[in-house]
Order: sequence, then C-alpha cells, then structure tokens
Amino acid sequence: MDLYEYQARDLFEQYGVPVLAGIVADTPDEVKAAAEKLGGVVVVKAQVKTGGRGKAGGVKVAKNPDEAYEAAKAILGLDIKGHIVKRVMVAAGARIAREFYFSVLLDRANRSYLSLCSVEGGMEIEQLAVEKPEALARVEVDPLTGIDQAKALEIAKAANFDDDLAPKVADVFVKLFDVYKGEDATLVEVNPLVQTEDGDIIALDGKVTLDDNAAFRHPNHEALEDTSATDPLEAKAKAHDLNYVKLDGQVGIIGNGAGLVMSTLDVVAYAGEKHGGVKPANFLDIGGGASATVMAAGLDVILNDPQVKSVFVNVFGGITSCVAVAEGIVKALEILGDEANKPLVVRLDGNQVDEGRAILAGADHPLVTLAAGMDEGADKAAELANA
Ligand SMILES: Nc1ncnc2c1ncn2[C@@H]1O[C@H](COP(=O)(O)OP(=O)(O)OP(=O)(O)O)[C@@H](O)[C@H]1O
Ligand SMILES: [Mg+2]
Repeated sequence: MDLYEYQARDLFEQYGVPVLAGIVADTPDEVKAAAEKLGGVVVVKAQVKTGGRGKAGGVKVAKNPDEAYEAAKAILGLDIKGHIVKRVMVAAGARIAREFYFSVLLDRANRSYLSLCSVEGGMEIEQLAVEKPEALARVEVDPLTGIDQAKALEIAKAANFDDDLAPKVADVFVKLFDVYKGEDATLVEVNPLVQTEDGDIIALDGKVTLDDNAAFRHPNHEALEDTSATDPLEAKAKAHDLNYVKLDGQVGIIGNGAGLVMSTLDVVAYAGEKHGGVKPANFLDIGGGASATVMAAGLDVILNDPQVKSVFVNVFGGITSCVAVAEGIVKALEILGDEANKPLVVRLDGNQVDEGRAILAGADHPLVTLAAGMDEGADKAAELANA
C-alpha cells in the first residue's frame, strides 16, 4: 500500500524525522483556515499517489491565507496523471538552501535492501539516474544490521556530502530507516530532503510503501487505507478474505489456486476472441477450501459486478473433493436466491469428479451448465456472455 504524503509526514514525525507542520484540507475554506493557523508562507500540496505533482501544478507557494485559498481552488479537482486531487496538505513554507535525495527500498533482485542517495535532489530521480548516474549513490544495506550511524555515514559519504553535513544528514537517514523497519515498509523516499537557510535538515516530501504481507503485525495500518479509492467490489471481497482483482471484461471467473485461475483468465480471453471479444471480468481465487460459504461469498461479489454477463467456475478438486465443491455451489445458489441471476458454467475435475458432477446434475439448477473440460467451459461461458 502506498501512503499519501501527509500520512508519510505523520509517520516521519512519530519516528523523530524532522518535518514541517502540515494540515490536510478538502476545501479552499479549510485551506485558508489552515494557512491562518500556520501563519507566514505556506505551500499548498496536492495529495495524490503519484509523483511529478510540482510540475503538474499541484504544489503552490502562498504568501498569505488569501493566496492559499486561490491555490487550493486551482489545485483541488486537478487531474494529475489520472489522479483527481480531492485533498491537499497545507505545509509550513521552508526557506530552502539546498535539496537532496534519500531513499531506502527492498531490492528484490539482490535479496537485500538498497539505499539511494544524492546531493542533487529536487529533480525527478529517474531523470537523475539516467542523466547523471554518477551523482546517485547506491549503497547496499544488510537487512540484518540495517542503517546504523556508521552505515548512514557511509551512505552520506558515497553521495558526496561534505564532512560538516554528513553527520547531520546521517542522523536523519538512521531515523528514516527506523520508519522503514518499524513499519515494515518496502520503500521510504524523501525527495527533497532539504537544508534550510538556517542549516536545519528537513524532510519536505515523503513517499512510503508499506508491505501488505506484514499488515497483520500493524493493526494501525488499516486506518491508513484509502477506502474511498478502493473499488467497492474489491472492498467486499477483502472483507470476505477473498483474493479478488477486478478486471474489465464480462466473464466472471472463480477458481481454486492462483495458477489455475491465471490460466483460466488466459483460456477465457482466448475463447472470447470468437465471441464478440468478451474478456475475463476478474481474478478470484477461492483457495483450497471451496466451502459453500466461501463459494457464496465469491459468487456474491462477482454477480454484483454489473459488467458480468456470465460466470465460469473452474475448480480442480485436490484435498477438497469435487463433492464438497458441488455441494458448495448448490448451497451457494440457495443462499443467494434471486441474487443469482446470471448463467454459470461449471467445470469440475479431480478428486471424486463423477460424484461431484452427479450432485450438480441432480440439482438441475436452471442457471448452471456443466462443462466437461476447461476449454469447453471457457468457450461456453464466453458464448453466454456475448449472447
Ligand atoms: N514545505 C515546503 N516549503 C517550501 N518549498 C517546498 C515545500 N514543499 C515542497 N516544496 C518545493 O516544491 C517542490 C516539489 O514538492 P514535492 O517534492 O513535495 O512534490 P513532488 O510531487 O515530488 O513534485 P516533483 O515531482 O515535481 O518534484 C520541492 O522540490 C520543493 O522545492
Ligand atoms: Mg518530491
């Protein structure tokens, strides 16, 4: 999960990283009030989960509350790379002497952590990496020892900070690593980290990505989730602990095991070429259990997608037998009642397949069609979606 800048700022503050005061606001009036409260020069900053806000007109300096009001009017509603600005942060203005860059991230390829650092911050780091790679220090960070004072100094030296400044920024690097480790982040990036005219080091921008796989260790992370931006179907699936990803097509997909579901998507997309170009509507892995309640929850999510015209249930009975799966489907349709209103193509295979098919055949539900194989099922589901 990526955090908004203001959320990163708050985390930084908790860990003692030097930041400036910031107040979030959703309307120009709130922005004006925030600017009055902060006093002096403020910067109104678009809160969107994408970079390049400055260049897109999403970061504006305001010398007084009236200017802040006008800045907010210009920024709220702005489209920045497809993200509409609904909220801004009013930040105290810094008198910047120099801008630096610092980040620490998970380096998957090397099974390690990596710190990137430069005395030339402010500009886009991707651009710096291409145009002046020698100005961007890359220092491997051992996950077991992390960034302690010595490592932080090594990073600062590698990035060409002078002897006066190195210990000062190193202190901040150590604290930023505390954020990274303490919150189970996969990225902590500060661009720019600045030195003010008074000589203070301050994190003026923050980008943090949290590792969702560690969410169970951080009950406080749930509150950081932006539910307004989440697809309602994905939210519903999440509430049922289902692995669901909404896609753009018309054929709802339910399968067990990520690999099988991925290949089901491919097979349906292929079959769809012959049937008006219909495509898979989602990824949904109901896992090993495939019980009636899980099946009902899965069907409930998929049938509530208005784009879905048919559903393809593709289950391979392994430890869970096809009997349990078939009973799950019958029960799920009972639970859903009138809400089950789109044709279902079911392909079962594996453990106790004959008994499972017999149960579905016996139930003789008007919406259910049995398919002998995966290709046949995909073809039938695509055909029904195109009807
Ligand atoms: N509180 C502040 N006080 C003074 N200047 C600021 C403040 N916050 C940001 N700036 C200036 O605005 C620039 C862009 O801000 P920021 O880095 O937060 O946005 P960004 O999305 O990374 O934009 P860009 O990608 O265009 O740099 C900074 O490099 C800095 O010069
Ligand atoms: Mg920035």
